[in-house]
Amino acid sequence: MPIITIKPSGKTVEMPVGASLAAAVIAAGESMVLKCEGKGECDSCHIFVQEGRKSVSKIQRLENERLDAIVGVGSKSRLACQAMIGEEDVVIELLGFSSGL
Ligand code: FES
Repeated sequence: MPIITIKPSGKTVEMPVGASLAAAVIAAGESMVLKCEGKGECDSCHIFVQEGRKSVSKIQRLENERLDAIVGVGSKSRLACQAMIGEEDVVIELLGFSSGL
């Protein structure tokens, strides 16, 4: 199973393929607010995928629209509830802020 490393803490968690990055964050014991309960309708789970981006599911229309509305979005940005884990290890970075949407 792929290993997800979560920065800045450096915690790691082994997750099954097809689980979301949000599930990995929570499984690792990190806190993540899922304001819309993982429906891709807010930005509270915005993270950066630092390594292993090709192993994470492609951005779908709903996520893309939400990301477009987020201040501070970058090429590594994903909504953790919408990004599903693939076969390879992934390194993500928690941002520690939210625009409050
Ligand atoms: S929890 Fe709302 S978009 Fe992920």
